[in-house]
Amino acid sequence: MGEVGTRSVLPEPWGRFVMADVEERSDEAGVDGQGRDAYSGLSARRVTIEPWGVQVGPLSHLAAERDRLGELTFEHFDVRQQEATLGAEVEGLDLCRPLQDAAVAELCTALHAFKVLFFRDQPLTPAQHVEFAQRFGDLEVHPFIPANPDQPELVRFEKEATVGGYENGWHSDVSWRACPSLGAVLHAVAIPPVGGDTLFADMCAAYDGLEPELRDRIDDLVAVHDFSKVFGHTVKEQDRAAMREQYPPVEHPVVRTHPATGRKLIYVNRFFVDHIVGVDRDESDALVDRLAREAETVEYQCRFRWEEHSVAFWVNRSVQHYASSDYWPQRRVMERASIAGERPV
Ligand code: SIN
Repeated sequence: MGEVGTRSVLPEPWGRFVMADVEERSDEAGVDGQGRDAYSGLSARRVTIEPWGVQVGPLSHLAAERDRLGELTFEHFDVRQQEATLGAEVEGLDLCRPLQDAAVAELCTALHAFKVLFFRDQPLTPAQHVEFAQRFGDLEVHPFIPANPDQPELVRFEKEATVGGYENGWHSDVSWRACPSLGAVLHAVAIPPVGGDTLFADMCAAYDGLEPELRDRIDDLVAVHDFSKVFGHTVKEQDRAAMREQYPPVEHPVVRTHPATGRKLIYVNRFFVDHIVGVDRDESDALVDRLAREAETVEYQCRFRWEEHSVAFWVNRSVQHYASSDYWPQRRVMERASIAGERPV
């Protein structure tokens, strides 16, 4: 198939980091019998505005992770934490030059912790982009999105007046693969003067924030993911059967466990999930919508304002993203390398 490149300096750096210093959660989201928040044990708790069912108030389950991330320091670079549990800007690395193995290993640790890392002023050539991404694993070739003409491992999102941006829905990349990518490195080649931000959502925090009854209900469910809703129209009639054979619908757990951190996370998105197995269609649609909606919680998000040659590196396992499509008809060109992952469990 020629899908996977070969040159990973470190065999599985993604497995090294263990969140030993994060306490196993033993309490439950919500409120106890005395009206206290179950995480904080305090009366500063969330309240519901009726009749909308909208909740306001602190998301206290974010506090421990936010504080833990705030304490992290690294030898090879500095980090500036962006939001409570997600995102950090990294300073002090030149991604255009080969990095020491120790710096790459530290980047893995930072990535597991912050889930998405941002870098400024990295004028990567396509070859340098590929070389950097390959330090973290083998790269995928995307069968549906156009690639950089010289580097097939780089998906190229080239938007302008005649080509709109359609990535403005919360999703994790290629969840329709049996082994979806574990991470992605996105480089801003050309950006509009205003707009075109990318937003990210922490699906571990989203899982932790669900009501206990809902977590119990979904913990053992399985969802079918399928490329065809989003990419079906891009496949020529004569290629459909072969594509379908190569990429059949796949089943993944609705609640996935991150292999390196052991954290559970919501692993459904509206782009690629077709249905939940063993549940009738209406209930399946409602449940997918309910869970996917968690990505829309602002407290689980961070938002990146691109500059030319900014780079974002995210963990596709546990983060969903959304590319704001507010810049049309201006030009926005991004290139993405995706690192091959494993079968979700
Ligand atoms: C994507 O990976 O969905 C594209 C993200 C972006 O263009 O910001």
